[in-house]
Amino acid sequence: MRKFLFLLAFISTATLFAQFTDYNTVKEVKVSNKGVVASAFPLASEAGAQMLREGGNAFDAMIATQFALAVTHPQAGNIGGGGFTIATTTTGKKIALDYREKAPSKAHRDMYLDENGDANLDLSQAGGLASGVPGSVAGMFKMHEYAKLPMEKLIQPAIDLAEQGYALSAADANSLNNRKETFLKYNKNPIAFVKEEPWKEGDILVQKELAATLKRIQKEGQKGFYEGETAKLIVKQMKESHGIISKKDLKNYQVREREPLVIDYQGHQVVTMPLPSGGLVLAQLLKMVDLKGLKGMQLNSPEAVQLMVEVERRVFADRAEYMGDPDFIEDQTEKLLSPAYLKDRMANYDPSKATPSSEVGKVENLGKESMQTTHISVLDKDGNAVSTTTTINGGYGSKVVVSGAGFFLNNEMDDFSAKPGVPNMFGALGGKANAIEPNKRMLSAMSPTIVLKDNTPKIVVGTPGGTTIPTQVFQSIVDVIDFGANANIAVNAPKFHHQWLPEEVRVERDFPETTIKALEKKGYTFKKTYKIGRVEMIVVDENGNYHAVADGRGDDSVAVE
Ligand code: GLY
Repeated sequence: MRKFLFLLAFISTATLFAQFTDYNTVKEVKVSNKGVVASAFPLASEAGAQMLREGGNAFDAMIATQFALAVTHPQAGNIGGGGFTIATTTTGKKIALDYREKAPSKAHRDMYLDENGDANLDLSQAGGLASGVPGSVAGMFKMHEYAKLPMEKLIQPAIDLAEQGYALSAADANSLNNRKETFLKYNKNPIAFVKEEPWKEGDILVQKELAATLKRIQKEGQKGFYEGETAKLIVKQMKESHGIISKKDLKNYQVREREPLVIDYQGHQVVTMPLPSGGLVLAQLLKMVDLKGLKGMQLNSPEAVQLMVEVERRVFADRAEYMGDPDFIEDQTEKLLSPAYLKDRMANYDPSKATPSSEVGKVENLGKESMQTTHISVLDKDGNAVSTTTTINGGYGSKVVVSGAGFFLNNEMDDFSAKPGVPNMFGALGGKANAIEPNKRMLSAMSPTIVLKDNTPKIVVGTPGGTTIPTQVFQSIVDVIDFGANANIAVNAPKFHHQWLPEEVRVERDFPETTIKALEKKGYTFKKTYKIGRVEMIVVDENGNYHAVADGRGDDSVAVE
């Protein structure tokens, strides 16, 4: 009998292990009467789909996928970061959850300025002082109020993946190898992500300390992260890495359930996150472009790209001036979306030439781009939709792993404006509205979104990509609604991005040369870049079939119930 049980245990472990080491990405599915999950990694999407199969709804699938990404997508998936969720339910409820990180209570406006008053962005971008108080775990527990299965079950796939290990993709192995020196610089104790020999595709990454942390969360609930052993380890790490997150900061962290931002666009209802997320940027982009309208234009044609770039120029200038945490600043959402204001903003649009950025806003800068963060789109067979974007900001966040707890902390403090007029790691500028204050949430570009048609989900969409997030969600939505593209084209067509400053339009390498040449003649400057965005999109067609697409730019994958 004992022999039989041992054999059974061996077989089930072997099956589990085979499942974690043997996987393929699925880029696109079309289904009827089945739920779908799209995320940045196959095993994470599969964890979500498994919950659907076991009777869970879209919220269950989202929670399982988010925890699994914290294991299988360490550069962005997280429990040490924060995020936003938009959801719509079959009962007509629209939900907006804000579990963005907060500045620690000891943070202050000038904390990254040196003795000459210059911003030292090294400190806001890496090391202990770069971290805000994480919100992701609290966010998952808040979301669980809408789920059906026990939380213990939803965390289990992540625990298995951390404990048994999973096979690294080629991209992930390279990514870890490229960061080896940085990881060693910021971590004095051994971490799971560094080994003597370079990582190769197929190597098994085992994360025992992370598994133990996830088990504490599984056993103790939210307190398993924000109090007790995990909190103790975070605060200990803070002391070693010159950070300032305290036990009290962790214990006091609270999710904000906000009123979703809902706008009409071309006969659809767009449901997105309000401030401090990027949803307001997206809403302005859609409403401003709608003044002239894209109908009759072609996707990525010179006319369409020019109009969209000019809209992006004006909206990003507004972002720098007016946007921040609405709990700390005067919320200007109503003004920024008013037809009179938007019309006035477009009054100097001239289709014969590029509008100089100096004519739409006040400060100057140069900046660089990055594309971390991660997005999950879920639609269950009943029609509950959940769109979640979470982040630790840059790749592997602050680069600091909480010793003994096995997860990266975020470097989200860099999303504040360390000094008005000094660009952050995304080249984005901020002013007073996004200055650092204790317990304030830093402005985000994350824009998880659901588009409804006749009150049922038509599009579930989102992406990572820093400041490119709202422009990619914008493009994906208009690709479907205005240009009639299917989900695959909307996700994988060459993308462009403009953000007011720097005064250039970034385009992917395969962007149409004819469009570039036509617009260069009108005074636009183009800069070719490797990849923009990693969109996870679900589109529901006129027959009610789900068309789910995972971005071809990464290991992203769709899983079906
Ligand atoms: N850290 C990226 C964002 O929140 O926009």
